[in-house]
Amino acid sequence: MSKQFDVVVIGGGPGGYVAAIRAAQLGFNTACIDEWKNEKGGPAPGGTCTNVGCIPSKALLQSSEHYEHASKHFAEHGISTGSLSIDVATMLGRKDAVVKQNNDGILYLFKKNKVTFFHGRGSFIAAKDGVYELKAGEESVTAKHVIVATGSNARQLPGAPFDEVDILSNDGALRIPTTPKKLGVIGSGVIGLELGSVWRRLGAEVVVLEAMPAFLPTVDESVAKEAAKLFKKQGLNIELGVKIGEVKTDKNGVIVAYTDAKGNEHHLAVDKLIVSIGRVANTIGLNPEAVGLKLDERGAIVVDHDCKTNLPNVWAVGDVVRGPMLAHKAEEEGVAVAERIAGQHGHVDFDIIPSVIYTSPEIAQVGKTEQQLKAEGRAYKSGQFPFLANGRARALGDTSGFVKFLADATTDEILGVHIIGPFASELISEATVAMAFKASAEDIARICHAHPSLSESTKEAALAVDKRTLNF
Ligand code: FAD
Ligand code: NAI
Repeated sequence: MSKQFDVVVIGGGPGGYVAAIRAAQLGFNTACIDEWKNEKGGPAPGGTCTNVGCIPSKALLQSSEHYEHASKHFAEHGISTGSLSIDVATMLGRKDAVVKQNNDGILYLFKKNKVTFFHGRGSFIAAKDGVYELKAGEESVTAKHVIVATGSNARQLPGAPFDEVDILSNDGALRIPTTPKKLGVIGSGVIGLELGSVWRRLGAEVVVLEAMPAFLPTVDESVAKEAAKLFKKQGLNIELGVKIGEVKTDKNGVIVAYTDAKGNEHHLAVDKLIVSIGRVANTIGLNPEAVGLKLDERGAIVVDHDCKTNLPNVWAVGDVVRGPMLAHKAEEEGVAVAERIAGQHGHVDFDIIPSVIYTSPEIAQVGKTEQQLKAEGRAYKSGQFPFLANGRARALGDTSGFVKFLADATTDEILGVHIIGPFASELISEATVAMAFKASAEDIARICHAHPSLSESTKEAALAVDKRTLNF
């Protein structure tokens, strides 16, 4: 006998688990099916984000940043540490513990919100009289509404499948047992930069090979330029415009054949290779054919602006659909879909989804880049303020980078904010809130900001739009 639900969510990552909680809050009898297993075979909800993405990468970024501070910056504070060492096993153990806290937190939230959790694979069996029949692990369930949130997987390089020992996806890259002497990274996107930074800080020589001729093309050009300069200074060796050839493993590691931008051929020998060339939507095992769920040519589930699929009452959110592959985008879509099922007007503003690269300095942006505004022919003003002129940044000893505002030339409405610098990930929220309320640069410039704080740089950048900074 099938268990009956109003809403069944397939996938317990940030898109799925949040959708399930919101649906339950709205009074629906809700289930969530997730197949992720921890090392003991038990449930590990939270998806890519919690298990092999956002959370563990930030844990390792924190550990490696502490190590770099201790080795390079403590002395200027008068702190001496003697000889310094890093126990990678302990660092990885801490990361695993942080992941587990998050897995357990989600299981607790399911209980609290009365979401029924099934540990196992969810797949479509059939649709009959407006009801969907699904497999939920070993059990079968029925639901009127289905939300698919099955996420994404790392894209493999043709001819170089992940073995997670030498050729690593994000999964293997987060559990390298000892710091490699030489680490190769293919792709200078978000994962390449974040995980390349982790292992560089711990002492690896890191070479990043990027196919595109431009560095971070989706980031504001001035920020990308500053980032390239700072990463080079840190010792991250990034080669742009390369063409990857054969990738071979041998007993010493991996050899990557590539042609550089000038057409010269190279063979790069590394101990480990991270391949971070994007991710692909995941519908493995979902059995979309059973109900005629439509996928696009790249395997993503086809949805409209509101996350509706081609099937009545079947929705899809997060990495498995179009749009940026970001945890908070998945969450917002999950909440909006649950509210739409309840007849409410769930809303996601795709124009103001912030994004952050958690390198040091951090890079954060919301809204349009300067190159986008130019391409659109939109008249704009810009204002910039360097952290070098901010008292709190000086006290922190972290003065690299700047805050940049882009505002409409006539109305002064904020169109984009770009930050490279300390705690950019936190500072960007003010800009996001301002843009959600359609604020002008002048609005931010006239708001009192605490002193001394990094956020004063945001106010000063807003003042700079009107060419009246006070501290620069
Ligand atoms: P996922 O998190 O992938 O979750 C999907 C879940 O569904 C998984 O648990 C999977 O096992 C399960 N599943 C799949 N198919 C089935 C099935 N048939 N039956 C049952 N269960 C199934 N984003 C950010 O915003 N900030 C960051 O700092 C950040 N850092 C990242 C770092 C790395 C290294 C990586 C790889 C990604 C990072 N991301 C980050 C991206 C973020 O992880 C994803 O955008 C987010 O996890 C997408 O959420 P989702 O719910 O759509 O899918
Ligand atoms: P990405 O899309 O950020 O970067 C991939 C890079 O690889 C691009 O620069 C691309 O030009 C390059 N590339 C592609 N094919 C190549 C080839 N054959 N040879 C050399 N270079 C090649 O993808 P990434 O870093 O794998 O991350 C995947 C997703 O995970 C991203 O979409 C991102 O949104 C998400 N993520 C988000 C994070 C965050 O928000 N802080 C952190 C990590 C990942």
